[in-house]
Amino acid sequence: MPAKGAQRREQRAPTVNGSGAATPRSVTADVLVIGAGVIGLAIAWRAAQRGMRVVIADPDPGSGATHAAAGMLTPVAEAAYAERELFDFGSASLRRYPQFAAELTEATGLPTGFRQTGTLQVAHDVDDMAALHEHALLRESFGAQTERLTGRECRAAEPMLGPVCGGLLVSDDASVDPRLLTTALLAAARAAGATHLRQRARRLLAGDSAAGAELDEGTTVAAGQVVLCAGWASAAIEGVPAEAAPRLRPVKGQILRLRPTAATRAASPSPSFLNRTLRGLVQGSSVYLVPRQDGEVVVGATQEELGADTTVTAGGVWQLLRDARALVPGITELEFAEAAAGLRPGTPDNAPLLGPSALPGLVLATGHFRAGVLLAPLTADLIADLLVTGILPAAAAAFSARRLAAQPFEHQDAAPSWR
Ligand code: GLY
Repeated sequence: MPAKGAQRREQRAPTVNGSGAATPRSVTADVLVIGAGVIGLAIAWRAAQRGMRVVIADPDPGSGATHAAAGMLTPVAEAAYAERELFDFGSASLRRYPQFAAELTEATGLPTGFRQTGTLQVAHDVDDMAALHEHALLRESFGAQTERLTGRECRAAEPMLGPVCGGLLVSDDASVDPRLLTTALLAAARAAGATHLRQRARRLLAGDSAAGAELDEGTTVAAGQVVLCAGWASAAIEGVPAEAAPRLRPVKGQILRLRPTAATRAASPSPSFLNRTLRGLVQGSSVYLVPRQDGEVVVGATQEELGADTTVTAGGVWQLLRDARALVPGITELEFAEAAAGLRPGTPDNAPLLGPSALPGLVLATGHFRAGVLLAPLTADLIADLLVTGILPAAAAAFSARRLAAQPFEHQDAAPSWR
């Protein structure tokens, strides 16, 4: 399906850069997508599939929050008090994931790392177990299926676990590799006819309505609809009127990647160090370990309100390794492959901002905070509907981009950063 549409659109699409061609001075599109993280790329793909001429502006796709995301798709394990609507939204997006991932791979031949292997959430000590028990009651009040396991049953499910008090098993949860996903989404968007310009959107062009943007290497993109999905930096693009600008704060997350060595591979019959995503509470501190098919384990994540700081700190790495090792002592045998930090886009109520802003033609799709990867398929479908029909589907009503507009807006001090 995308291939046929793409052929038709390629004839009228502007020159693509990033593939060796000269950067065009001006480009016209139906939709300009500012930001090529997982949200922007998924929207661009879906909108292009529906016949829209789409331009994506981003100097380095997938280099923001997506780059440091573990890719957990765990709406049940991440459910929180007073976030019932977000839980339902996340669950609905998770239901779309198997088809979303399969369609991407079919369109591009590229993997996404999607695995539906469940989540085991464990408690390290008795107090952690009490907290987990409270969480189980919350989940059950949301109607979520969750199975209570004893410590022994947890260890039977995950033989690499050390002693734990007990846990909760959710079998529908899944994970994806956000870096693979981004690569596949960019390829799919381009195959569907979207144009990617490797430039940062410097300034929104707008009069009574959004009209496009100026990019930082001088290209002008004229577009009747502009989708702002540049993560926390969405708040700092010049020319966005204060009443239309998203209210966002960067929330730092540090994350580690550990890889099997020849010795750990020889010691284990299974390439996966863990069978499923493991989340744990260790003396009140939370940690997660997300295994990939090839044996890599992603350990995350800190949550730090420090402004736009992406320093990987000794303390952050220590905290993650300390808690991960308390749950799974054998992780110390793995190779330490990477430590990274990213900035999640947090809104005042921690829920995303979706749909028309106060400026006609300017659409927001940002503020996904801890759940951008999970919420990408549903966000993309709903925003593509809005772009094509002019109507934001009811499923997004609770996350209206205008719900916080009455509150005063303050620009972030830090310079906008895409990297
Ligand atoms: N969703 C996991 C995180 O943001 O750390």
